[in-house]
Amino acid sequence: MKVITHSPEMQQTALALRAAGRRLALVPTMGNLHAGHLALVRLAKQHADVVIVSIFVNPTQFGPNEDFQTYPRTFEADRAQCAAAGVDIIFYPADVSEIYPADASITVVESALSQTLCGASRPGHFTGVCTVVAKLFNLTLPHVAVFGEKDGQQLRIMRRMARDLHFPVEIIAGPTVREQDGLALSSRNQYLTPAQRAQATCLRRALTEAEQRFAAGERNPQCLITAMWNLIAAEPDTRIDYIAIVDDETLAPVLEPITRPALVALAVWVGQPRLIDNTVLRP
Ligand code: PAF
Repeated sequence: MKVITHSPEMQQTALALRAAGRRLALVPTMGNLHAGHLALVRLAKQHADVVIVSIFVNPTQFGPNEDFQTYPRTFEADRAQCAAAGVDIIFYPADVSEIYPADASITVVESALSQTLCGASRPGHFTGVCTVVAKLFNLTLPHVAVFGEKDGQQLRIMRRMARDLHFPVEIIAGPTVREQDGLALSSRNQYLTPAQRAQATCLRRALTEAEQRFAAGERNPQCLITAMWNLIAAEPDTRIDYIAIVDDETLAPVLEPITRPALVALAVWVGQPRLIDNTVLRP
């Protein structure tokens, strides 16, 4: 496994691999890898013969009061996990300037799907994500890129970006990996106290509640949201950012009755960490 820390070398390597007829997959990450990331790597290996994992804590996707400084940076552990998982190349920019020249003045702005859900609570977040992923696509030149379904809005925005900007990259979705009790794996789970860790299962429990009511015939989005809200608000350390039911494709609010696939998405602070999860309801 090769670790590449400079952008020009990454791009030259990708160009040479493509010229040699190799099929490349990118798994973009911010490091602190866990079983969820490794599942994305396994999926990438099914679609390509060279798997590149990028590890870069992207400053532009963090808001001024968010956890950029304290975001866990665990490169040695990440490297060992990538080696064990059969990753071919880690792209680990040596410095932020490898990605953002000091006078960088171009950003990628998505202006429809990013206006709601996490985009509404984290202004500028998806501009940061789109900008860095566009750069990573240009540096690693992948045929396919794998994104987790847990970041449901990000996944949909990545598909839209690839389409709108004509990136010759197929976006592949990796199913959310969960703990046995349903909590979606996230680098931020490690900040939960034991009591909060137990409470954090309320995200998945709320989604299950919505799924069950929907299966029983409930088609009123507000009734489903109220049921989820009550379940989560009953946990003492939770503070709800949003619970929303939106069109699975456009992310526009769904009106009663639900007649098309709908994304149920939620973001909840459990103590300090803000956790997200989602499911899709299919009529
Ligand atoms: O999902 C993430 O970890 C990040 O948003 C990504 C896609 C690596 C961009 O920094």
